[in-house]
Amino acid sequence: MKARIISTGYFLPERILTNKDLEKMVDTTDEWITKRTGITERRIASEEEASSDMGTRASQMAIENAGIKANEIDAVICSTITPDHFFPSTACLIQHNLRIKDAYAFDLSAACSGFLFALNTAESMLLSGKADTVLVVAPEKLSSITDWKDRSTCVLFGDGAGAAILKKDESGNGIQSTYLKSDGAFGDLLMVPAGGSRMPASPETIEKRQHYLKMKGNEIFKVAVKSMIKAAKHVIKDAAFKPEDIKALIPHQANMRIINAIEKRLSLKDEQIFVNLDKTGNTSAASIAISLGELESSGGLKEGDKVVLVSFGGGLTWAGIALTW
Ligand code: UT7
Repeated sequence: MKARIISTGYFLPERILTNKDLEKMVDTTDEWITKRTGITERRIASEEEASSDMGTRASQMAIENAGIKANEIDAVICSTITPDHFFPSTACLIQHNLRIKDAYAFDLSAACSGFLFALNTAESMLLSGKADTVLVVAPEKLSSITDWKDRSTCVLFGDGAGAAILKKDESGNGIQSTYLKSDGAFGDLLMVPAGGSRMPASPETIEKRQHYLKMKGNEIFKVAVKSMIKAAKHVIKDAAFKPEDIKALIPHQANMRIINAIEKRLSLKDEQIFVNLDKTGNTSAASIAISLGELESSGGLKEGDKVVLVSFGGGLTWAGIALTW
């Protein structure tokens, strides 16, 4: 018995912010951003669009693709670092938007690894009999915590949402192996300093722009490469996948140089690596969820295909999941 993703969905807001647009906002160039990150444009949500709205749209697509009624879902797990509010949870808001009545919903926080952590939780709930149908949704409105005056971060992030519906499956297809890790010792490398109980919002924290995301990018870079390779290798071995048989490795879409390093170290080919970073930027928890949604919608996944998901993010957190479609 395995937990299996039976459908996916994704949503990207309409507005496109290009590198050229950013040249007019901060001291940067299209050339720097493209060369150092691989990003050429990203989507930005409108003022009226919150994470729950984008998460609802992605979930509606996943529900439609699954051919189920929303009310068949008995648990909603939402992973986001940009919730609509501290509480109620974004999961509860999405549950209500989808008119799911007889269910439980909660948020899970693991930054860019959130979608994988949530899939792992969904797997445990399904295999332990605590749920029959689980919706995992990962919406992010990173533009709401981006400091648009900080060129070292504002060129990196984008908005969007991805979703997946999971059920138990006896065919043998589904999640084959999971690997989750975190290390809080490096929490300060990627964080939003103010607005929580450590440093509640005040005129001073606003003045110091402490409600925005801060990242020591070059310190994270090396840890990200190392950890993602380790996570990918672990699940590939544990699932007994041969690297050449992997249909798609979907890495967290943060930086093309990180993705290239993973491809090289795992001796994979370009066509085995899924990339949409150039068009989406880094969308944190939504990144792998959107990628999976895009890949499935484009007909890129067939039953039995071997897929590897690998993430890295704030916490620090990192994870790998190997699955057969
Ligand atoms: O999603 C969660 C996990 N996050 C990640 O995995 C991110 C990992 N890190 C990265 O992707 C990269 O470190 C960044 C893309 C964030 C930065 O690239 P980098 O090659 O590590 O650049 P850097 O931070 O070392 O900065 C190099 C130079 C600096 O100038 P000096 O000191 O050499 O004169 C920066 O001030 O580039 C400068 N710089 C910029 N220049 C033009 C930084 N941002 C920009 C910019 N435009 N937007």
